[in-house]
Amino acid sequence: MKLIKDPQGMHSFSLKAKYRGKTIGFVPTMGYLHEGHLSLVEAARGKSDVVIVSIFVNPLQFGANEDFDRYPRDFNHDKKQLQNFDVDVLFIPSRDDIYQESHRTFVDVEGLSKRLCGISRPALFRGVTTILAKFFNIVSPDFVFMGEKDFQQLLIVRQMVRDLNLPVEVIGLPTVREFDGLAMSSRNKYLSPKERQNAAVLCQALNLGRQEIEKGERDKHKLLLRLRSLVGTIPSIRLDYLVMVDPDTLAEKKDLNGRTLLALAAYFGKTRLIDNILVEAK
Ligand code: PAF
Repeated sequence: MKLIKDPQGMHSFSLKAKYRGKTIGFVPTMGYLHEGHLSLVEAARGKSDVVIVSIFVNPLQFGANEDFDRYPRDFNHDKKQLQNFDVDVLFIPSRDDIYQESHRTFVDVEGLSKRLCGISRPALFRGVTTILAKFFNIVSPDFVFMGEKDFQQLLIVRQMVRDLNLPVEVIGLPTVREFDGLAMSSRNKYLSPKERQNAAVLCQALNLGRQEIEKGERDKHKLLLRLRSLVGTIPSIRLDYLVMVDPDTLAEKKDLNGRTLLALAAYFGKTRLIDNILVEAK
């Protein structure tokens, strides 16, 4: 596995690979890798000739009072994990190489970025789309692999790729979960043992929603109340949102027919976790 720090070096590596007719699969990450990330790397390995993983904790997608400084980092552990997956390049640019002082250009996907997580984290998606637009130019991937745990992020990146005619195919992969259903996330590390135990209720609520819709429940408000009261059995959890929305537009659904995205975000102390599940009513 080759380590590349300099964006220009990364770009010329990619151009050479393309010139030799190779396809490039790209997995952008912020590091502190877990099995969810590794499932993306595995998929990239299966579909592309050259696999490039980036680790960059992107300051632009954190708000002023968010966890940029304390976001977990463990580069040596990440590097070791990636060595098991036959990754060709680990791209680790510095903040200064990516955002020079003169940086003034941002990519913003309107509408979708203002919903769900965009309400309590207004800087998030502008930061994500700006860094990914830059990375797509630097890395020139044919495929980019991203997790469905960040469903809204995936949707927004797909929209950006369409709107800007970026020559990359966005491939979404299923959420990887812990033994009790908790969605894997680098932020799970922040949880105390008690919070970690309680966090399973998030996935339990989503599963209850799915079961009820599959059994024929079509009263959205009644179902939301049931899910909220299940989450409420853990009084220390503060729900940010719990919604049933159209999975293409993220607009509130009027009924529960067809496809519905059940999505939530919740705080355990300062730690904010998200999860979602896609349900199809038969
Ligand atoms: O999902 C993430 O880890 C980040 O938002 C991403 C896509 C690597 C952009 O910084």
